[in-house]
Amino acid sequence: MKYFLLLLSVFVITHGAPALAAGDAEPPPEMHWSFSGPFGTYDRAALQRGFQVYKQVCAACHSMDLKSYRNLAALGYNEDEIKAIAAEYTVEDGPNDEGEMFERPARPSDRFKNPYPNDAAAKYANNGAMPPDLSLITKARHNGANYVHGILTGYEEAPADTELMSGQYYNRYMAGHVIAMAPPLSDGVVGYEDGTDGTVEQYAKDVTQFLVWAAEPEMEERKRTGIKVILFLLVFTGIMYAVKRKIWADAH
Ligand code: HEC
Repeated sequence: MKYFLLLLSVFVITHGAPALAAGDAEPPPEMHWSFSGPFGTYDRAALQRGFQVYKQVCAACHSMDLKSYRNLAALGYNEDEIKAIAAEYTVEDGPNDEGEMFERPARPSDRFKNPYPNDAAAKYANNGAMPPDLSLITKARHNGANYVHGILTGYEEAPADTELMSGQYYNRYMAGHVIAMAPPLSDGVVGYEDGTDGTVEQYAKDVTQFLVWAAEPEMEERKRTGIKVILFLLVFTGIMYAVKRKIWADAH
């Protein structure tokens, strides 16, 4: 009996797992990112384009609650540009002296404006699916950058045996292949000012890089510090070796 159970569990493990995996997502393509590796840095022009994609497309549904307009300085925008970007939004403030809430243009110190007043409104506007906050999305998902890029470029015609309900879309890289986000990008939807091609692939790369920066704005500093520490340790090892030789030089 024990033997049978053991055999059974071996069978389930070896045969059951692939059956489960069939409905599971494919791993997204491995992209080459400028920020990969120990010397990787962000491409400022790509970050600005990526912000433009977020602002003109994704921000209609996705909040980025952990970011303030002034954080955009890291993308190379100057103070006046940031003031102008913030002022495009109206936020609620207050209460004033009379106890009333009031509206005013956003300031650089305000957080990115949330497209919805609350989560219920966000779900209601999206067929019951909650568009996740994108501040940390590339950290919240395994293989974050490749995954986000994959989702944005992974929409396909559903195979004949997959039935989609209204408001559902087929995506190669989504777990279970079914996603409640309509394909957000199409060629030409954002007009880049720097002459870069307006293709889905380009938008996906740029907005992904922007989201990686959002989740890890201190990445470049962290890598620089790491390299300095390694250099220091190398030099220190050399000095210690020289000291050791000197101290023990006369010991026979
Ligand atoms: C029309 C509204 C809408 C727009 C515009 C939109 N999204 Fe979404 N997004 C959603 C909804 C709804 C979900 C939740 C989907 C689900 O759970 O199936 C979602 C989910 C996601 C996810 C998470 C997938 C997962 O693993 O759970 C990512 C990443 C994402 N969106 C990125 C973006 C980016 C980047 C843009 C801009 C290029 C964008 N979205 C534009 C509505 C939108």
